[in-house]
Amino acid sequence: MPVPSPFGSDKTNGDADGAGIVLEQLKQPSAEDITAITRLWISTGLIPAIRDARQDIENCISAQHGSLIIARHPGDDQIVATMMTGHDDIFGWIHYLAIAEHAQGMGIGRELVRLAEDILRTSGLREIRITVENATAGDFYANLGYERVGSAPDQTPPESHQNTLMCKSLIQ
Ligand SMILES: CC(C)(COP(=O)(O)OP(=O)(O)OC[C@H]1O[C@@H](n2cnc3c(N)ncnc32)[C@H](O)[C@@H]1OP(=O)(O)O)[C@@H](O)C(=O)NCCC(=O)NCCS
Repeated sequence: MPVPSPFGSDKTNGDADGAGIVLEQLKQPSAEDITAITRLWISTGLIPAIRDARQDIENCISAQHGSLIIARHPGDDQIVATMMTGHDDIFGWIHYLAIAEHAQGMGIGRELVRLAEDILRTSGLREIRITVENATAGDFYANLGYERVGSAPDQTPPESHQNTLMCKSLIQ
């Protein structure tokens, strides 16, 4: 079944606030896209420098309920942000929200989260959940109305630690 999406084409109509950035649902990433996304995730601390993002990207795109949304700079098409969204029929989830350092603070993160909420609400989900790995991101999500509801263990080597589980109702 195709991923329910509020936008009919691969490109969204909405520019991220004030940035002239174009949001796009990435369905067939090029090798350059995968390289750019890997670099972005490493530079924003989402994955270790030794990891390739290819498998996670392919898993998301091929998942029944997965969407990979990216933001490109309108001038040079450079990927400046990513977000994965999906659901397990009970909860909606956001993963891999990353904004390139030079594009942070421009409203792109907020716009992507708002888009995820719209996608998941359209899919009939009532609640969205996020596993947050650092306090800074937790403050960002709290600013967007997410509540801290508990912690979730992360066993990713080399160190295991506790992530924070945050949630928000999608019922308006
Ligand atoms: C956290 C992150 C996604 C924020 O994205 P962003 O595009 O810079 O944020 P925005 O410009 O959309 O900010 C939206 C609002 O959140 C606030 N905000 C942004 N970062 C914040 C932070 N670290 N702490 C508290 N509030 C924050 C902004 O001030 C703004 O508030 P306002 O509407 O009252 O002005 C981005 O900094 C990032 O990619 N960080 C590294 C990767 C990461 O940690 N991802 C999250 C994984 S769970």
